[in-house]
Amino acid sequence: MTAHAVPGLGTALVTQDVARAVEVLRAGGLVGLPTETVYGLAADATDVAAVERVFAVKGRPADHPLIVHVATGGELDLWARDVPGYARRLAATLWPGPLTLVLPRSDRAGDHVTGGQPTVGLRCPAHPVAHAVLAAFGGGLAAPSANRFGRVSPTTAAHVLDELGERLDPARDVVLDGGSSAVGVESTILDCTGPAPRLLRSGAVTANEVLFAGGVAPVSPSPPADGAVRAPGMLAAHYAPHARVVVVDAGDVEAAVRDVAEPRGRGDASPDDARPVTGLLATADVETPTGVVRLAAPSDEAAYARALYAALREADALRLRTVVAVPPAGTTLAAAVRDRLRRAAVGSAGHD
Ligand code: TXA
Ligand code: MG
Repeated sequence: MTAHAVPGLGTALVTQDVARAVEVLRAGGLVGLPTETVYGLAADATDVAAVERVFAVKGRPADHPLIVHVATGGELDLWARDVPGYARRLAATLWPGPLTLVLPRSDRAGDHVTGGQPTVGLRCPAHPVAHAVLAAFGGGLAAPSANRFGRVSPTTAAHVLDELGERLDPARDVVLDGGSSAVGVESTILDCTGPAPRLLRSGAVTANEVLFAGGVAPVSPSPPADGAVRAPGMLAAHYAPHARVVVVDAGDVEAAVRDVAEPRGRGDASPDDARPVTGLLATADVETPTGVVRLAAPSDEAAYARALYAALREADALRLRTVVAVPPAGTTLAAAVRDRLRRAAVGSAGHD
């Protein structure tokens, strides 16, 4: 999470100036906001026009709710009502952190931010820059991940520019550079509208942390029925690069690489053929087959989560056709990485 200037980005959009970002928010502009999970695209959550611009810039459907980011757990009752005891305890213990709580909304959380849902997602981020912005701004910030809808979430300021640079206005908006996101995948989302927290999206927070902090065991989601979307944010296709993502076990890498490489090789004599077409994303113990670009070789699941989105972007920058990904084994962050890879695979299927 070291702060660094983005090399070669001679753009008026990028700054490290928190006070400038707060001015932009007060004037109804948008801020590319570093958080410990991924970068968000933030607007004053009470400013209907600013929040509408967030949807427009992202290309996001209007019924897809945004998370409201707050500076402290003390703001829970401003945005939510009927907060169950376990949710209060989760906020008291696990905030600031990579955890979003979905709660019945208060009047302050209008349709413009909740997509018309009767609930609101609330999160208090742990990144020092996000915290500084929230504390100085003094209100809630609606912020989805700062990528085009359905695409790969950004984990650096440079990624935000790649995604949205042309759609942001240097006269009204900024991208705050707060270095690389330390977690690398989006927050854990818990539906806290029932008697026990229900996992809507996996992230860095463990089931044991939820149990110990909240005093109530989280309910695991039932496996999604084929093709069924039960809630926004549970879309099967998401987090997708342009390259096709193929998820395989370590023992099947060689076969998968052969399978995906063959169609272009045959009968295609273009000079492009000399370029690698396949990338590999796997922990360091998995060897790279000849002719394949190694996109990342993380040592463990935490390193895998940190490297995941940058690796998928690198695949697109290299114009690879296919990413062969060996998902990490394990729970929590490993499960979150497997979830994102699965959705990336669905989202990229059919691209050529
Ligand atoms: O780590 C994160 O959560 C990042 C950073 C920027 O905080 N934000 C993020 O936001 O991932 P977004 O909008 O890309 O994903 C939030 C997900 C969406 O899929 C949305 O549908 C779901 O949370 N969500 C938000 N409010 C909800 C609600 N009231 N009920 C159910 N799902 C909700
Ligand atoms: Mg997102």
